[in-house]
Amino acid sequence: MSHAIARKVASDLTSASFIREMFEKGRRLKAEFGEKNVFDLSLGNPNASPPEAYFEALRAVAAERRPELHRYMPNAGFDAARAAVAQFVSQEYRLDVGASSVILTSGAAGGLNVALHAVCNPGDEVIVLAPFFPEYRFYVEQATAHLVIVPCDETFQPDLDALAGAITERTRAVIVNTPNNPTGAVYSDERCRGLARVLAERDRPDRPLYLLLDDPYRRILYDLDWCPTPAAHYPRTIIVSSYSKDLSIPGERAGYVAVPPAMPERELLLGAMTMLNRTLGYVNAAALTQRVIARCASARCDLSLYRKNRDVLCAALREYGYALVEPRGALYAFPKTPVPDDAEFVERLVTRRVLTVPGRGFGWPGHMRISFCVEHETILGALPGLKAAFDEVRKA
Ligand SMILES: Cc1ncc(COP(=O)(O)O)c(C=O)c1O
Repeated sequence: MSHAIARKVASDLTSASFIREMFEKGRRLKAEFGEKNVFDLSLGNPNASPPEAYFEALRAVAAERRPELHRYMPNAGFDAARAAVAQFVSQEYRLDVGASSVILTSGAAGGLNVALHAVCNPGDEVIVLAPFFPEYRFYVEQATAHLVIVPCDETFQPDLDALAGAITERTRAVIVNTPNNPTGAVYSDERCRGLARVLAERDRPDRPLYLLLDDPYRRILYDLDWCPTPAAHYPRTIIVSSYSKDLSIPGERAGYVAVPPAMPERELLLGAMTMLNRTLGYVNAAALTQRVIARCASARCDLSLYRKNRDVLCAALREYGYALVEPRGALYAFPKTPVPDDAEFVERLVTRRVLTVPGRGFGWPGHMRISFCVEHETILGALPGLKAAFDEVRKA
């Protein structure tokens, strides 16, 4: 092994290699066959247009001539952005969250890092519910904690007994992501309440147990008007989210952390996270982004392309014979691969120029993630390959 980079980083690079490999394969295939002939369903990069309200806000902000707005700002963000996000969060979660309880962050990714660093001591445990967003492992370990994986049930809902059994003296936080990447599952109201109950039974004043709600897909919903949430049922909840998906602006890094009023150590936690927002190197979400968010915090992109892609993709997968739990939110379908070796099946799809991600990368082998935040033609183009690969292994 090379001595040029830190051992931990070298090992993380190896474990993240499945994403890079797929990216590289995609690049090679696109160079060889042309963009249009490669059906890349491997990336979670939202492709809906941001809503008109976003562009209007951008124009208004660009027209302002106030040099002070481009300087360093308070570490928690601009007051106007915090107030707008607080109002939005209060409505969305049916909670009374004040502007002083919101910190603007560099995406949900920045918010998760800030929150984890604020609460974790070396050797603490952080529970994630599998299947899970692979970057959690890096965030948790960078915050000197250990990742503990608790599997969901077969419909990708939280398994409350398994969760209760996994909580130890060392558990510091549980990360919950609904709608979920990679499954598209929306956790039911009953499970959200149950989850809150399990945590409340284990939470102690001298050993606080935090619920980190990673919610960037909260408003990417297909069959529901409102996403159930444990936020209102568990006092030690930290909401972490962003506008990456619902405003469709992941490049702008518009994220936030919000701490509901019931949190016992709200002030201390907010102070710690505000400091970390700077000392971890983020030094705020970009000023321009915050000023835009202050003007369009409750807007949402049009979900009709995603809905159409989801409907067509899921109907086709079922018809071909794939076992699938219908995604009710987010941007992904997560069917079972027709052979247990998900990596092998994903390779088979590559030969048909269809790119997906093996489930093992999300802590759930025997499945694959198919992103549907792509042009509709890309979904249509991928279907013959998805069918042929399925038929091929079934006949073998
Ligand atoms: C589950 C989950 N959490 C967090 C993030 C990070 O999002 P952001 O762009 O807000 O940093 C993503 C991005 O895809 C995600 O899927």
